[in-house]
Amino acid sequence: MTDFEGLTALVTGGASGIGRATAELLAARGARVAVLDLDPSSVDKPLLAHRADVTDDASVREAVAAAAAELGGHGVRGVLDVLVNNAGIGAQGTVEDNDDAEWHRVLDVNVLGMVRVTRAALPLLRASRHAAIVNTCSIAATAGLPQRALYSASKGAVHALTLAMAADHVREGIRVNCVNPGTVDTPWIGRLLSRAPDPAAERAALEARQPTGRLVSADEVAGAVAYLASPLSGATTGTSLAVDGGMQGLRPRPVRR
Ligand code: NAI
Repeated sequence: MTDFEGLTALVTGGASGIGRATAELLAARGARVAVLDLDPSSVDKPLLAHRADVTDDASVREAVAAAAAELGGHGVRGVLDVLVNNAGIGAQGTVEDNDDAEWHRVLDVNVLGMVRVTRAALPLLRASRHAAIVNTCSIAATAGLPQRALYSASKGAVHALTLAMAADHVREGIRVNCVNPGTVDTPWIGRLLSRAPDPAAERAALEARQPTGRLVSADEVAGAVAYLASPLSGATTGTSLAVDGGMQGLRPRPVRR
């Protein structure tokens, strides 16, 4: 598949998990891909790596400009075709459990991080003939999950931001969509499970919550991101695509044991 041949892409949080799988898939489908991450030391060729913290506007602007220069889309500098806003962090607890500093920290990464990177990338996206932004949202934006008040608020904001951005930039030819993954088997979930009192029981509970009876893979989310980012999806904007093993939309009867 070479639908991304000749196109350039930037993936935030691209050193691990969903971002890494997405960067590798876009590259395999023909794109030149740069990763922007807090720690891109594990990123190998053909991916290009740029260090930046999405909470730091200056570091974002510098990394986006450096990535665009290195990517050199369409033989000229200053063009970006695909932006995947994926960097994000988690938070656990009810509305009582996180202090103001933690609320500011998580919203700063998960919401303002997307704002900063998009702001820096828009002039480059405007120069593309196939511009697409894909935001990594979550099922936490559309379903009430226990112990995820702050995280859900951040992803609810990402969902609304996706729609607003899609409306603002549709006339400029820039499509904006998001993916809403369920629980995905990434290093993030590995860390979460390792902190649980009974990791195996916690994993089984997360698997059982999804009608498919298993966790989503990072590659499956990457496939959905690529679908939304592809020039083949030119009429798709302002949508959210669930990649959640049926968790949002299905109500199968519980399995009797
Ligand atoms: P991960 O922890 O494996 O990867 C996240 C990457 O983002 C890491 O490489 C990390 O260095 C980078 N990052 C974190 N903070 C950053 C910052 N301030 N600046 C730049 N880079 C930063 O996580 P995973 O699971 O791949 O998650 C990626 C996205 O998917 C997140 O937005 C998360 O909210 C979302 N998501 C994950 C789900 C899951 O079950 N794993 C489910 C639904 C959504």
